[in-house]
Amino acid sequence: MVSTSKNSLKDSLHYAFHRCRLGTLKQFEGVDETAFRAQPHPDFSPIGWHFGHIAYTEAYWLLENCAGFEPLFREYHQLFRADGLPKNERIQLPSISTINCYLEAIRSEVWRYLDLAPIEEQERLWRFILQHESQHSETIAFVLQLQRLKSSENQQQIYQPPARISHSPQTLKIPAGEFEMGNNSVEAMDNERPLHRRYLDSYWIDRYPVTCGQYRIFMQAKGYQNRKFWSIEGWKWLEENPVSQPLYWLEDSMFDDHPVCGVSWYEAEAYCNFVGKRLPTEAEWEKAASWDEESQSKRTYPWGEELPNSNRCNCNDGEKMQQGTTSVNAYPQGESAYGVRDLLGNVWEWTGSWFDKYSGFSYYPYVGYSQSYFDNQHRVLKGGSWATRPWAMRCSFRNWYHPGVREILAGFRCVSQGEF
Ligand code: AVJ
Ligand code: FE
Repeated sequence: MVSTSKNSLKDSLHYAFHRCRLGTLKQFEGVDETAFRAQPHPDFSPIGWHFGHIAYTEAYWLLENCAGFEPLFREYHQLFRADGLPKNERIQLPSISTINCYLEAIRSEVWRYLDLAPIEEQERLWRFILQHESQHSETIAFVLQLQRLKSSENQQQIYQPPARISHSPQTLKIPAGEFEMGNNSVEAMDNERPLHRRYLDSYWIDRYPVTCGQYRIFMQAKGYQNRKFWSIEGWKWLEENPVSQPLYWLEDSMFDDHPVCGVSWYEAEAYCNFVGKRLPTEAEWEKAASWDEESQSKRTYPWGEELPNSNRCNCNDGEKMQQGTTSVNAYPQGESAYGVRDLLGNVWEWTGSWFDKYSGFSYYPYVGYSQSYFDNQHRVLKGGSWATRPWAMRCSFRNWYHPGVREILAGFRCVSQGEF
């Protein structure tokens, strides 16, 4: 353990790593050996693999790369490296307790090293590792949800009395002008850099993500059967994936104020066409979330600088292990300077933008983190979901997936050029 040093940076990293790990371990409570290596969807590895990969990645970067250790647990390298084995070969895993010991062994070396490490030079890498575990922790959460869905065990949703969201304006005008996009601070991932100014014309953004109640109107209007709402690519996707409701659809009208969750980008696009709106560009989303017009400055989070927690949004802060979405207006304290709600947490939001580099990009810590995905085949998602850990959510954070993916915890909101 880190001694009670006067180094507040080491203390704060120690605290964040510790809290992040507690949340990761909590996800494995009640998981048996079968669930540990189950693969409910071929595009995603079993949760046990993510568990080992978290340890491997931490050991590789902090112990081998920084501390100069010889490779530890060589027998796990091929299994837990990102490019070691195809996903369907990741089901032959050591036991839960063996992988637990692996994580524990690596972490105790990491604590010993943290005491000695020249942390000022390494802070960016430590923050990367923290976010790496955070991101895999979210994947573990939705793979577990996919398992529950397969065994048709009901998801636990938080019941909230029907919200009255119709009394406040439902669309908000974001005036034309420049704002700051991206992030130069130490925790920013390579793809968020560099911070740069951008001009946007005015637009109207929905105050809330699209709810189940709104989406039901699209379904009842035969939106899934009517080609005119779908782009050519979208219709092709629908023919290959004949679905007629979101993957994580909540049928009970009690959840009508929850955001839609489990839609592909194409379904989001079709809904926007149905209502005569469109998806926000990534820049439009980020400005509405982070820009404070009055002080002409950028906030890290919609509400300011306080790390995401359960007063501000529906995220996995390790406090309440709540599974699932909440009403879109459950967090008035999470509002942005423009008054936009439910931007972080609850569901990721598809944007109309391709995942691409900002001018001046340089990869960190390896090409395969972001750069390999600048291929015009991945759409940007913003905001984070109910399963996102606080260290991997902020206005500038960028997530990316193929437009046909619907297993991730994604919904969307709409924008328009005029008020309606
Ligand atoms: C950015 C969430 C798509 O999980 O595949 C984890 C993040 N990169 N390890 C993923 C990531 C390397 C990545 N996503
Ligand atoms: Fe990884």
